[in-house]
Amino acid sequence: MNFLAQHLKYIFLATALLLCSLNSRASTDDAKASALAKQNACLGCHAVDKKIVGPSLQAIAKKYTNDPNATAFLKNKILKGGSGSWGVVPMPANAKLSDADVSLLVGWILRGAPSTN
Ligand code: HEC
Repeated sequence: MNFLAQHLKYIFLATALLLCSLNSRASTDDAKASALAKQNACLGCHAVDKKIVGPSLQAIAKKYTNDPNATAFLKNKILKGGSGSWGVVPMPANAKLSDADVSLLVGWILRGAPSTN
């Protein structure tokens, strides 16, 4: 009984550590992505929870919840710009963003743009 109790403690600790590291990786990505969104003026047109010139980031997350092609589609849209998903106002191109940065931005937006403060 003592033996089992001791091992349960280690299993619990290992699980807690694993969860902590997964969680901190996600919030590091969120922090990087929201910094990128500020640096690239995305937030001038997109707020997290309300429409400005472009749709809110939460509305984008919701629209693409069950779309398996969302990541590829949105990465391309951020790089090349365009209109038609939300109306006639076009989204400007962001050709200078790296593939890694666009991936971070899309992942963050599809998670509902969680705030990092
Ligand atoms: C000048 C204003 C403006 C800026 C700056 C801007 N956007 Fe947009 N964005 C828009 C508009 C307008 C739309 C709607 C386009 C449409 O209807 O297809 C949009 C749409 C989007 C969409 C959804 C695309 C779709 O087809 O559903 C994403 C994702 C997005 N923007 C991300 C970003 C990111 C990331 C940045 C910064 C790198 C950014 N936007 C900068 C105006 C802007």
